[in-house]
Amino acid sequence: MSIYLFFEPSTRTRTSFELAAKRLEADVINFAAATSSLSKGETLADTAETIEAMSSDIIVMRHSQSGSPSLLSKAVKSKIINGGDGMHEHPTQGLLDFFTMRDKKGKIEGLNVVILGDILHSRVARSNIYGLLKLGANVTLCAPPTLIPKFSSLNVNIEYDLKKALKDADVINVLRIQKERMENSYFPSLREYTSHFGLTEEKIKYAKKDLLIMHPGPMNRDVEIAHSVANLPNSVITEQVTNGVAVRMAVLYVL
Ligand code: CP
Repeated sequence: MSIYLFFEPSTRTRTSFELAAKRLEADVINFAAATSSLSKGETLADTAETIEAMSSDIIVMRHSQSGSPSLLSKAVKSKIINGGDGMHEHPTQGLLDFFTMRDKKGKIEGLNVVILGDILHSRVARSNIYGLLKLGANVTLCAPPTLIPKFSSLNVNIEYDLKKALKDADVINVLRIQKERMENSYFPSLREYTSHFGLTEEKIKYAKKDLLIMHPGPMNRDVEIAHSVANLPNSVITEQVTNGVAVRMAVLYVL
């Protein structure tokens, strides 16, 4: 039995985990955190123990607090899958991104991958960076300086000029501007952000013809990515979602 404990909104991760579990003939319980006894003051660990008392094997969890799945894994016997924790990591999104890159490009090692956008607040960025470096890709981060955290110990390139970043790129993974996690002002206006860092057809002209265009979703169309670019033939944004089901089936199966 797998239980889905989502404390933050999700379309792709929750639905694809549910579909993956059903294809593996698991029982699936969707736990609505907002209407549970958590709202009466029950702790996360007590809630998880209560769920576990009903014989859960796997808990898939999304939470706004970085580290919460790790905390829960120490409190219960069920296997915990991180469905995204705060600004920390989104491991299965990373895996489905690598699957998609390898499917389309035939390899990961040696690929030039640009991660564009709100890297500071992005758990997808962190899971991509750690995994891509491990698999031998060259990783370039492109964003305004205010949206790039200090990854001083990691071997990543930093480029503030999107046209230059695009020149040798094989893959671009575009990230959403996460307004909900921004406590400060990181750029003067969305319009200015889009003019410098939005992926438009005009900027794509500086890239190779076979540039693979990716986005984990949800997209802010015409903010970080132009509507027309998201719909180009070399955009694989919908295929990423499709691949997410198979990748999550694999994760559930291995666990
Ligand atoms: N990519 C991703 O995690 O999407 P959802 O927030 O819709 O699950």
